[in-house]
Amino acid sequence: AWGQVSVTIDPAKPGPVINKNVYGQFAEHLGTGIYEGMWVGPDSKQPNTKGWRNDVLGALKELKVPLVRWPGGCFADEYHWREGIGPRGERPVKVNTMWGGVAETNAVGTHEFFDLAELLGADTYVNGNLGTGSNQEMAEWMEYMTSDTKSTLAELRRKNGRDKPFKVDFFAVGNEAWGCGGDMTPAHYTNLYKTAASFIKAPHGARPKFIASGGNDHDSKWTETLSREVKNNMDGISFHYYTIPTGKWDVKGAATGFPETEWISTMKNTLAIDGMIRSNVKILDKNDPTKKVGFMVDEWGTWYDVEKGTNAGFLYQQNSLRDAVVAALNFNIFHAHAERVRMTNIAQMVNVLQAMILTDKDKMLLTPTYHAYRMYVPFQDATSLPVSIKGNVNYSLGKVSVPQVSASAARGKDGKMYLALVNTNPNKDVDVTVNVAGGAAKAAQGSVLTAPAMDAHNTFAAPDNVKPAAFSAQAAGGKLSVKVPAKGVVVVNVE
Ligand code: AHR
Repeated sequence: AWGQVSVTIDPAKPGPVINKNVYGQFAEHLGTGIYEGMWVGPDSKQPNTKGWRNDVLGALKELKVPLVRWPGGCFADEYHWREGIGPRGERPVKVNTMWGGVAETNAVGTHEFFDLAELLGADTYVNGNLGTGSNQEMAEWMEYMTSDTKSTLAELRRKNGRDKPFKVDFFAVGNEAWGCGGDMTPAHYTNLYKTAASFIKAPHGARPKFIASGGNDHDSKWTETLSREVKNNMDGISFHYYTIPTGKWDVKGAATGFPETEWISTMKNTLAIDGMIRSNVKILDKNDPTKKVGFMVDEWGTWYDVEKGTNAGFLYQQNSLRDAVVAALNFNIFHAHAERVRMTNIAQMVNVLQAMILTDKDKMLLTPTYHAYRMYVPFQDATSLPVSIKGNVNYSLGKVSVPQVSASAARGKDGKMYLALVNTNPNKDVDVTVNVAGGAAKAAQGSVLTAPAMDAHNTFAAPDNVKPAAFSAQAAGGKLSVKVPAKGVVVVNVE
C-alpha cells in the first residue's frame, strides 16, 4: 500500500567517507559557461573580483564548491596553455572549433583559473592536452604551475604575477580518448597514458593526483585495460555518463514542457548509472585490490535539446525541478559507492548543460540543481551510514518502472546525522517512517525542495519560483514520519 515505506539508518556501522570532491564542478571553455557567465574581466562595469563576477562567486561560495575541473572537456585536447598566459591583450585569439566555432580570446588562462579556484576555496583539476599537444607541452605546463626553482618557466610564471607555485590537485591526461579526444582504442590510449604520466613531473610533495581518461555509458573496457596495464602514476580513472530523456542523441528531449513519459525515462536513465558504477568497481576490485585507484565520474548530468534560438554549440538548456531530482538521485548513488567514487564533476557550472547558475548579461538566477547542491552540503566529507529501505514501491508509467524512494544517510563532520530522501513519483507524496537502529529517531529538520509542476523552473522574471523550504518533523507515538512530497527532495538532520 502507499505510504508504508520505512527507512532504517544504522549509525553503528559507518561506511567510507564521502569525499567532498564528489560535489566537484566542471567549467569548460564552452558557450557562455566561462566567458560572460563567470568571467567578465577586471575592467567590466559588472562587479567582479580579478575579473570573476561577484554575484556568481557569492552564489558558488554557498555551495562550498570543493573542486573545479578546467579547461575541458573536449576543449582540453585543443588547448595550448602558452596561449593563455602573459598580458591578456597580447594573447592569440583562436577559434573554438569544438564549441560553436566562436572566437576564443584566451582571456581566461592558467592564472585566471587559479584565481577562480582560490576565490572559491576549491581544489584544482587541470585537464591536459594529449590530443593536439605533446608530452613535452604537458610536462612544461606542469613545471610552469608547480616549480619553485629559478627555472625559466618558473620565472615566467613569476613575471606573469605569481611568485609561489600554484597548487594542482588533479591532472588528467586527455579527455574522452574514445571520442573527441582522439578516437582511440583502450590499448592505444593506455600506452600513451603510461608514457605521458612518466614524463609529467612535479616537485616532491606537489605531484597532483593523475587521472586517466576512461570510458562512458556501458563501456567498461577502458577501466579493464587501464586498471590491468597501468601500475604506476594513476590515481583515478575517469568516467562520463549523461542522462538523456529519450536515450537518443539526435532528439534528446526538451528541458521544459516535456511529457510524463520523459520524466520517468529521465529517472530511469539516471538510475542506470548505478549499474555502470557497479560493473566498473567490480573490475577495479579485481585489478586493484588495494584500492589505489578511484573511479572519477568527472562528467555527468542531464543533456537536453538546446533552447530554441540559441547556438547549438553552446549547450544552453533550462533547468527544472526534474534536474534537482536527477542530481539528488546521483548523489545518493555516489554516496553508496563512496569507497571508489572519490570525485565527480557535474557538467557544468554555469550556462552549460545541467548548470547551477544561468546568467543573462548582468542578471543571474540559481537553478533547482543549485538548490539540490546546497541542500547536500552536509554530505561533503561526511561518513556514510548504511540505510535499508523496506516497503519501497515502484512508480510506473506504461512499461517503465523505477523505485519511488531513494535514500542516503551520513554522519556529518559536525557530528550530526543527515538523511536525504528523494521521491521520484511526480504524482504521489510518500510518508517515510525513519528509524535509527539501536535507538529512536525523535525529530528531523532541514529543507524540502519541490514545486507544483514537473518542469517548474526559475526565470530571470521569476527567479525564486523553485527554491527550498524549511522542513521539520517530530516523532509521535514513538514513530518519526517524514513526508516526502511528490517529485521532491528532503534533506534533514535526524535527532
Ligand atoms: O560537457 C560537454 C562535453 O561532453 C565535454 O566537453 C566532453 O568531454 C563531453 O563529450
